[in-house]
Amino acid sequence: MVLKGILHEDDARRAFDAGVDAVVVSNHGGRQVDRSIAALDALVRVREAVGPEPTVLMDSGVRSGADLFVALALGADACLLGRPHVYGLALDGAAGVSAVIDNVLAELDLTMGLVGAATIADVTRELLVEG
Ligand SMILES: Cc1cc2nc3c(=O)[nH]c(=O)nc-3n(C[C@H](O)[C@H](O)[C@H](O)COP(=O)(O)O)c2cc1C
Repeated sequence: MVLKGILHEDDARRAFDAGVDAVVVSNHGGRQVDRSIAALDALVRVREAVGPEPTVLMDSGVRSGADLFVALALGADACLLGRPHVYGLALDGAAGVSAVIDNVLAELDLTMGLVGAATIADVTRELLVEG
C-alpha cells in the first residue's frame, strides 16, 4: 500500500508505523490548499524523520530531469510526473507520454553527467547548495 499526499513528517511516521509500504510526499500538484507547503520542502523533513530505509516517493512540480535530480538528492527514492504526462498525451497520444518520460530521463542523465554522479546513489544532498 502506498499512501499519497503526505506533507508532514508526523503523518509519515504514523503511516509507516501503520504498515504502509511507501508514502508519496505530495501537495497534489498544488491543487488542494492554496499556499500549501511545497512538496520539496516537505520531502526534506519527511526523509529526516523516517530515516534512509523507508520508501519515500515525491510529486508536485517535477517538470525536468534537473527537478528530478534535486528531489533525488533531497531524499526521494523516485518521483511521479503528473501534468507533464497529460501534456504529452494531448500532443501526441502514447508517443507523447513516452517522449515526456524519455526527455526527463535524458535531462537527468545529462545533469548527473555534468556534476559527476555516475549512479543514482551518487545523487546526494552534498551536490546541492542552499539558496
Ligand atoms: C486534473 C487533475 C486531477 C487530479 N486529481 C487527483 C485526485 O483525484 N486525487 C489525487 O490524489 N491527486 C489528484 N491530482 C494530483 C496528481 O495525482 C498529482 O499528485 C499531481 O498532478 C502531481 O503534480 P504535477 O502535476 O505538478 O506533476 C490531480 C491532478 C490534476 C492535474
